[in-house]
Amino acid sequence: MGIAGGGVGTAGEISIRPATARDAEAVGYLLADAAGPLAAPIWGGGSIERTRERYAGMFACWGGSDHHFVACEDERVVGVIAHMADRTDPWQSLRASLATMRVYGLFGLLALSWRMRHMVSAEPAFVRNSYSVWNLAVEEAQRRRGIGSELLAHAHAGAREAGALTVGLEVLIGNTAAIRFYEHAGYKERRRRESAGLREMTGAAGLIYMARAVRDDDQTAARVSSR
Ligand SMILES: CC(C)(COP(=O)(O)OP(=O)(O)OC[C@H]1O[C@@H](n2cnc3c(N)ncnc32)[C@H](O)[C@@H]1OP(=O)(O)O)[C@@H](O)C(=O)NCCC(=O)NCCS
Repeated sequence: MGIAGGGVGTAGEISIRPATARDAEAVGYLLADAAGPLAAPIWGGGSIERTRERYAGMFACWGGSDHHFVACEDERVVGVIAHMADRTDPWQSLRASLATMRVYGLFGLLALSWRMRHMVSAEPAFVRNSYSVWNLAVEEAQRRRGIGSELLAHAHAGAREAGALTVGLEVLIGNTAAIRFYEHAGYKERRRRESAGLREMTGAAGLIYMARAVRDDDQTAARVSSR
């Protein structure tokens, strides 16, 4: 158990490593799961298959990313997580926007921004100095085996290394499984925002911001590298 140097961690037969562009197809599939009911209406024109393809396309253009990590079993990707200290980093935002424009085109990007307006309006403000976790998903057939917990522990190790005091994330109102999972990991609801527009477009009522203190009691303690 634990995260070894170079950003690789293991838990039994599960290893965690930085994601690369070669993981795009598997990651695209998992990111659609992580986005839940928001995925198809916002990113896929109503089609979950198109959503997965577009996520995969964006991820491939992005060249992976410096803050996405995958959990692998026998080299097969079974889970993903993103975590970083500053989600508003302008360089990351620019790379993400360029990848999005390549997949959707300029007018597609404008249309996507329009469809995302309700999601943005439901986003609770980020807590200052909080380390961010997002895009967490485990392949459906592999859930309840502790893989999500290992991925989260990887993020907590990153938070400790960054010297953060708290870790925060957003979860959709109604995503009971994920809320229970985060509560199990010590997260508590800090605030929530509802959006009638988001509900109308996706069925999701809004977003909950959950956070927990960065502590030393995680099983994963060694250094995390994004390279
Ligand atoms: C949330 C998610 C990542 C959890 O991954 P996982 O690998 O199944 O989680 P773990 O096996 O580490 O679960 C740890 C604990 O969390 C709690 N938990 C996990 N899933 C749960 C569920 N469906 N219902 C209730 N509690 C749950 C349990 O206490 C569990 O311990 P136990 O299995 O010993 O009872 C996974 O369900 C998933 O991918 N969901 C779809 C994508 C998603 O919603 N992502 C979150 C976006 S914010």
